[in-house]
Amino acid sequence: LLGDITRKPSRSRGTGRAVANIALCKYWGKRQLELNLPRTSSLSISLDPLGSETTLGLSDLPGDQIRLNGREMPPDDPFSRRLSRFLDLFRPAETAGFVVETHNTIPTAAGLASSASGFAALVLALDDLFQWNSTPRTLSILARLGSGSAARSIVSGFVEWHAGTHDDGLDSFAESLTDTWPGLCIGLIEVDTRPKPVSSRQAMTDTVNTSFLYSSWPQQVDSDLAALKTAIRQRNFDQLGRVAEHNALSMHATMISAWPPILYWSPETIRTLHTIWRLRQEGVPVYVTMDAGPNIKLLFLEDTAPMIREKFPKVRIITPFAPPDPDTL
Ligand code: DP6
Repeated sequence: LLGDITRKPSRSRGTGRAVANIALCKYWGKRQLELNLPRTSSLSISLDPLGSETTLGLSDLPGDQIRLNGREMPPDDPFSRRLSRFLDLFRPAETAGFVVETHNTIPTAAGLASSASGFAALVLALDDLFQWNSTPRTLSILARLGSGSAARSIVSGFVEWHAGTHDDGLDSFAESLTDTWPGLCIGLIEVDTRPKPVSSRQAMTDTVNTSFLYSSWPQQVDSDLAALKTAIRQRNFDQLGRVAEHNALSMHATMISAWPPILYWSPETIRTLHTIWRLRQEGVPVYVTMDAGPNIKLLFLEDTAPMIREKFPKVRIITPFAPPDPDTL
């Protein structure tokens, strides 16, 4: 794939926009590190309108100039290093530098999937700059090379990333499901927006290598993926929430049972979890999912939104399939 694409710019600048996503059935564990090939398939929902917008062009100066949210990033910053390493795949000449301007509407590296929309927006900007006119499937594969979950940010709505089986990764890409769910809400609760102490990449490797619990993960994913797809097709919210929460907590269980142990939760994460479980006992249909960080994402339906706002004043509510209705949210 990388051998077939042109690296001759067709215009002076390219722009790409991509939405963040949150997995309902997680991608956790790689079968191949370099190409970010996952051990299992995964399924996400996009978080419109949160995401990334990237503009890029080429310069004759050596080295990349990278700006993130209006701030010039030092070349030795981990963010710049990761971006430049990815851009190496697309440089027209070894000496060419890219000028990159990225805006994220989500906190960077706080478990809110900014790397997913970031790499997806970058690939879309490259597609625009070089005028590849690639298919979403190809763009998903290219975005995956930057960060696995970015494969799911090329398209929107409910998205399934097929793990694939080929060594070259050409069958490991994401595509949208046709179903929508207008009343579905995601509530973002930012517990801590500082960069995480252990990257998901490192955490996955340690989990795969040392957790005995991880051996049951692929089996759980098979069952969860099927149950989630049925729940989405039938708009069965309780099933969706139950399976997504169980899946997220099981992923965290595999990390806690790794050595050295990985625990992303803070005391506030745990307090929030208990509040949610208490609410559920009182009959409020709300569920939770979490990624590699302390932040919490709530899953609920539109008519529960007023109650969620009251209990969690800091919550940011996203309605991926419908413009927010100010009267209900
Ligand atoms: C917990 O996509 O950030 O958010 O492929 O190493 O870049 P790399 O990992 P990344 O991992 C995401 C892990 C997760 C679950 C998910 O989004 O499916």
